[in-house]
Amino acid sequence: MTESCHIPEALLAALRDARHVCVLTGAGVSAESGVPTFREAQDGLWADHDPLQLATPEGFLSDPELVWSWYRWRRELVAEVEPNPAHLGLAELAELVPRLTLVTQNVDCLHQRAGSTDVIEFHGNLFADLCFDERRAVDCDADDPAPTCPSCGALVRPGVVWFGEAIPEDALDLSFAAASDCDVFLSVGTSSLVYPAAGLADIARQNGAVTIEINPEPSRNDFDFVLENKAGAAIPALVSSLSS
Ligand code: OAD
Repeated sequence: MTESCHIPEALLAALRDARHVCVLTGAGVSAESGVPTFREAQDGLWADHDPLQLATPEGFLSDPELVWSWYRWRRELVAEVEPNPAHLGLAELAELVPRLTLVTQNVDCLHQRAGSTDVIEFHGNLFADLCFDERRAVDCDADDPAPTCPSCGALVRPGVVWFGEAIPEDALDLSFAAASDCDVFLSVGTSSLVYPAAGLADIARQNGAVTIEINPEPSRNDFDFVLENKAGAAIPALVSSLSS
């Protein structure tokens, strides 16, 4: 049974009038594809490992084989799932508004597999392999428990942003510019806890945008509209209402 989702007329009016829509997604948008949200991934299979062991440069350097085993597990899991109606609906939404900028905190490439283009990967990409020292993409042996860079010999790491690391400069610049310029800011499936991604909504609001959150457990109380629904129901409902 599909969950019903009422879309307020005023929200639709804001989207119809929008020149530029900026969307920020988090792990909740992939939850209905079967991808655990970040914490579930921690509390599920890896309850006895400290997240900072698995998602910091220090943790990686202290045990690269453990960290690689976790990211390879996530790669295998994501490779076996499909984009869900939320991903597909966001790709459709881009066709219904003059301009849409999609910023994702997710590293799973499911937006791209759903047809979204020019996705801004704020926290990197799960499937990229980077030289730890040179920070450039390298080819490495997928079976090596702790692969090293063929040119300099440093460890190779997954291409995701870890706690305490800088956001890729182009992603940061493009996202801040979109949040500043947009008329509507749509936050989908994120706990809004991790900065600077969580600050994009504030930038949008400060620049006069209408702000919308889609989350069954609303994260903050300062969005103009809150749809307390799963993204897999709310996004298709929103797209259907907008295109009717
Ligand atoms: P979180 O796990 O912090 O939050 C997931 C959000 O998705 C929660 O607010 C849930 O209520 C919501 N949610 C769950 N199921 C949903 C559904 N079907 N539809 C819509 N929302 C749903 O994940 P993020 O907010 O993405 O960063 O976390 C942000 C960052 O923290 C991640 O990118 C990661 C993590 O540490 C790094 O690893 C650097």
